Amino acid sequence: MKRVYLETYGCQMNEADSELMAGVLTRAGFDLVAGPEDADILLLNTCAVREHAEQRVLGRITDLARWKARRPDVLVGVTGCMAQHLRGRLLEHARGLDLVVGADAYRDLPGLLERAAREPVAVVRPDRDETYGDLEPRRGPGIRAWVPVQRGCDKFCTYCVVPFTRGRERSLPLADVLREIRRVVAAGYREVVLLGQTVNSWHHDGHDFADLLRAAGSVEGLLRVRFISPHPAHMTDRVIAVMAEGGPVCPQVHLPLQSAADGVLEGMERGYTLAQYHEVVVKLRAAVPDLALSTDVIVGFPGETEADFRRTVDYLRATRFDGAFLFKYSARPDTRAFGRPETVPEPEKNRRLAEVIGLQHAVSGATNDRWIGREVEALVEGPARRDPAQIYARTRQFKAIVFPNDGTPAGTLRNLRVTAATPVTLLGEPV
Ligand code: 5AD
Ligand code: SF4
Repeated sequence: MKRVYLETYGCQMNEADSELMAGVLTRAGFDLVAGPEDADILLLNTCAVREHAEQRVLGRITDLARWKARRPDVLVGVTGCMAQHLRGRLLEHARGLDLVVGADAYRDLPGLLERAAREPVAVVRPDRDETYGDLEPRRGPGIRAWVPVQRGCDKFCTYCVVPFTRGRERSLPLADVLREIRRVVAAGYREVVLLGQTVNSWHHDGHDFADLLRAAGSVEGLLRVRFISPHPAHMTDRVIAVMAEGGPVCPQVHLPLQSAADGVLEGMERGYTLAQYHEVVVKLRAAVPDLALSTDVIVGFPGETEADFRRTVDYLRATRFDGAFLFKYSARPDTRAFGRPETVPEPEKNRRLAEVIGLQHAVSGATNDRWIGREVEALVEGPARRDPAQIYARTRQFKAIVFPNDGTPAGTLRNLRVTAATPVTLLGEPV
């Protein structure tokens, strides 16, 4: 009963948590396997941020329960945000489920699995002090390592379930983060992505995120540093100044906007107005040459009028984000917006979503076209999955770029000239 199959849904923080669980489990003598067929234990590390994400996992649990009917000795567990969100209810609803583990209980996973072999187990108690800062994650192959620097969120945006599923904001000590970065560099990773729900609100022992970013960038042997996701209200001049220094700190920021209408931002309690958000954009673009800027937008939030929506469309068009994740509002139990009347009917939400997707596709295409003819520094990730005759790499702006496979090993920096572009990929040739 020692082979574990771990399936991950949702954001990078969940990917990082899965790596953490993989570390905890392998140290306790469990083996990780690549598919459910060979496993004795099936774990789904889940997301609760939108209802659709939960539906997918509930469907998957049903599949796995069917599977379990043929192999009754198999254990099925749900971890992560859905576990926390649905708690014990999940055990009652989903037949065949043996284990429900919230995001603060991964340290005890081996013991919980042992217990679950005897009786159903649900452990969802939030732990304000748990940062896992001392635990070594087990990462997959690649050149990029995710390094959590903060857990939880204190912002309580009115639509968002994360403060309820991941608990209160905690920052890892600077020393823990730097030790982990040195460890991943020694293990051969070339790029680090600092992770936190509002990563730039990181603070510890008198240090702020600007200190952390600068310290991360000065770790010997590390080629690139990125971070996700910053909150606009914490994008201080100090952080912008460190980004302007360049070096390993990459000119790329994912800065969630959510809406360009002040009334909607207020309803979401995002803590900024459009003017304040835009001030950050202007400062960043002035300070950081060739900055790539991306964002998140939610359409159809309760109370969003057609005029509000048009503000968002106009802002996306004018600001020319390199990319945007565009979502339909999804009412989440526990959040403060949950009880509010949904004023935007589903077909209208769909229309708004389709409009911003179409617009952003064109804008992303245009922002990529602007790279044609220019020289870029690309960090090689390996042969392209879809076409091994090409090598897949990323520019400092995190844009995907492919070039003819000349055997360049992963982890190498290559200077490329951009010869063509699509909205998702650049094409290059060595210079
Ligand atoms: N409905 C739709 N989108 C949401 N997001 C967070 N909560 C919701 C919700 N209830 C989006 C936000 C956030 C991203 C990670 O997911 O845009 O930035
Ligand atoms: Fe959710 Fe807002 Fe926290 Fe982001 S900042 S995780 S949207 S509550």
